[in-house]
Amino acid sequence: MGESKAPEAPMMAGFGNHFATEAVPGALPVGRNSPQHTPYGLYAEQLSGTAFTAPRAENRRSWLYRLRPAANHPPYRPYEGGTLMRGGPFDEVPPTPNRLRWDPLPIPGRPVDFVDALVSYCGAGDPAAGEGLAVHLYVANRPMEQRAFTNADGEMLIVPQQGRLRLTTEMGVMDIAPQEIALIPRGVRFKVDLPDGTARGYVCENYGALFRLPDLGPIGSNGLANPRDFETPAARYEDDDTPHEIVQKYGGQLWATTQDHSPFDVAAWHGNLAPCRYDLRRFNTMNTVSYDHPDPSIFTVLTSPSDRAGTANCDFVIFPPRWMVAEDTFRPPWFHRNVMSEFMGLIHGVYDAKAGGFAPGGASLHNCMAGHGPDRASYEAALAAELKPHRITDTMAFMFESRYPFRPTRFAMETPLGQLDYDDCWSGFTKARLPREEQA
Ligand SMILES: [Fe+2]
Repeated sequence: MGESKAPEAPMMAGFGNHFATEAVPGALPVGRNSPQHTPYGLYAEQLSGTAFTAPRAENRRSWLYRLRPAANHPPYRPYEGGTLMRGGPFDEVPPTPNRLRWDPLPIPGRPVDFVDALVSYCGAGDPAAGEGLAVHLYVANRPMEQRAFTNADGEMLIVPQQGRLRLTTEMGVMDIAPQEIALIPRGVRFKVDLPDGTARGYVCENYGALFRLPDLGPIGSNGLANPRDFETPAARYEDDDTPHEIVQKYGGQLWATTQDHSPFDVAAWHGNLAPCRYDLRRFNTMNTVSYDHPDPSIFTVLTSPSDRAGTANCDFVIFPPRWMVAEDTFRPPWFHRNVMSEFMGLIHGVYDAKAGGFAPGGASLHNCMAGHGPDRASYEAALAAELKPHRITDTMAFMFESRYPFRPTRFAMETPLGQLDYDDCWSGFTKARLPREEQA
């Protein structure tokens, strides 16, 4: 199950570059986008990821040259399967100020593909308003075969935790494994096959401004996620006139249609709107070499800004292996209350603020102003630690951090995966003791 028929296509380096790629020599028109007669009679089609008039630095679009126009499909009808994926306004259940944590999703007992496996945990904002985001988890055990998915509501940041994914997209094919991520632009059709048979992971669906690399400020011109480590697949096409089902997420609902050919029929494309992948292990981690570790924004891989400066619609932040050398410093993440809201997952190993309960594939949610921080065991271990240089190995946690409090879905609040005893990890701290004479 999930066997891949063809090798991965060549990859092209860079984030948001203007690429030009053709699977068939001469398929790409030269010197213009839409000639009267295209090479081989391919259909020229522009895919706009930003408004035509977005400033040049923001403007993202690509030109696709394909066997048939993407418009060549029958009407969409409501999709009856996979009802688990939702969109705004995320009002199924009242928002909660409580800290939430979940065990990993189990491998399902019945065959389920990536689309039907997606289950929404929380979200904020509204796809139609172009702001906010949603968090979905998946655990799949069936390849999509002749099905494709496309999301009109937002771009999709896919974070595998277990099992590789083969992503066949209109613009090329790429494989990702745990500790790698993929970013699929809004509207790009793709399917997910499972080279390892099963797969589990996380998806951030971004309704807001497109993810981009964060500014580096005083860090300088290099560091964090370096642009050249992002990879975009070269064009590859299928000439397949068999029925393909297209499932679309639109306005928070799922729709489907069946067309008489493969949607992956793009023989050439050029532009700066395209899927890409990134290996999180290539992240150039920055941290203190004196005292006090910086705010975790120092680990930002990608950011979706909002219209308030420095206040993200979504930051994708990782906690990778790194050296801890800070002197006279409490080294784990400190206690924290945050105006921003934090959804966390664990891809690999152990997270340094939680000695137990936060398993790979699990998740936690600390919304706006929810007190959080190291659990008691981690706190006590950090106080007792000898502060010599220490390398945190075998770990890869991540956070989707947003200016918008995440509103949990009914599933998230009612699933037996929820840890009802999560608050206990912050109970039993001994009270600090002031000198008697300083008390009023
Ligand atoms: Fe925090």
